[in-house]
Amino acid sequence: MSKRFENKIIMVTGASSGLGRAIAQQLGAEGASVIALGRVTEALEVTQTRIEEAGGRCLCIPFDLTEFDNYGKLFLALKDQVPHLDGLAHCAGSLKRCAPMQHVKPDVFRGALDIHLTAPNLLTQIMFPLLKRAESASIIFTTCDMIEEDQPNWHGYGLAKRALGYAAAMWQAEHPSKPMRFNTINPGRMRTRSFERAYPGLSPATVPVAADIAPAFLQVLSDDACEVRGQLLQASDLLETKN
Ligand SMILES: NC(=O)c1ccc[n+]([C@@H]2O[C@H](COP(=O)([O-])OP(=O)(O)OC[C@H]3O[C@@H](n4cnc5c(N)ncnc54)[C@H](OP(=O)(O)O)[C@@H]3O)[C@@H](O)[C@H]2O)c1
Repeated sequence: MSKRFENKIIMVTGASSGLGRAIAQQLGAEGASVIALGRVTEALEVTQTRIEEAGGRCLCIPFDLTEFDNYGKLFLALKDQVPHLDGLAHCAGSLKRCAPMQHVKPDVFRGALDIHLTAPNLLTQIMFPLLKRAESASIIFTTCDMIEEDQPNWHGYGLAKRALGYAAAMWQAEHPSKPMRFNTINPGRMRTRSFERAYPGLSPATVPVAADIAPAFLQVLSDDACEVRGQLLQASDLLETKN
C-alpha cells in the first residue's frame, strides 16, 4: 500500500467514532502520526489500537470541543511536542433528534452551533501556528446535505453546516498566498452512531459505512490535492474520480 502520509502529522476531531475514527485509522495505515481528539477516553483508545495495528502512530487527547476556554491549554500542551501539523480534519459532531425551531430550547440551538460551527473555526484558529509550520497543510470542514438542500426541522445543525462552506472560503480568502488549503466536504449519509440517532426510522443498511467514505477525506488531506483550495466538495464525486 502507498504511504502518502509518511512523516505527516494530522489532527482528527471526532476520532473516537464513525467518520473521524475511519479517517484516523486509514491515515495510520498510510503512515501518518494522528492526533486523535474525542471526549470518551476508552473509545479513543480503541482508535489508537487500530491506528497502531495499521502501522501508524497516535496521540489520543480526550477533549470536549465545546469548552472553548480550554483551547489555549490544548495548544500549550501540543506546541513543543508537535513540530508541525500537516492536516486538520474536523469530524466531531453530534446529531440529536430534530424539531421545528419553534420548539427548540436555547441550549440545544446554541449547542448545535458550538460543536458544528464555533469549534471547527476556533480550533483552526488556535492550531494555526502549528499548521503554518508545515510545508503545506490541508484543513477540512465536514458538512452535510443541508449545505445545498433545505431540510425542515434541522435549524441549528443545518445553519451551522451551511455556514461551514462560507467559513472555509473565508479562511482561504484570508490566506491566499500561504501553502494552506481550506475545503469543505459533504460525506453524505453514513452508517454511524449519529445516523442511527438522527434517523431512527431508516435502516442503517441503506447507507455506506464510514470506512467507504473516509478515502475521500484522505484524498483531500494528501499532497495530491495541493491545488484544491476553498472548495465545497462532495465525497461521492471524489470517490468516483478516484475509482
Ligand atoms: N452520519 C451521517 O449520516 C452524516 C451525514 C452528514 C454529515 N455527517 C457529519 O459527519 C461528522 C461525523 O459524524 P459521525 O456520523 O461519524 O458521528 P458519530 O459516530 O456520532 O461521531 C461523532 C464524533 O464527534 C465527537 N464529538 C461529539 N461532540 C463532541 C464534543 N463536544 N467534543 C469533542 N468531540 C465530540 C464524538 O466523540 P465522543 O463520542 O468521544 O464524545 C465522536 O467521536 C459530523 O460532523 C456529522 O455532522 C454525518
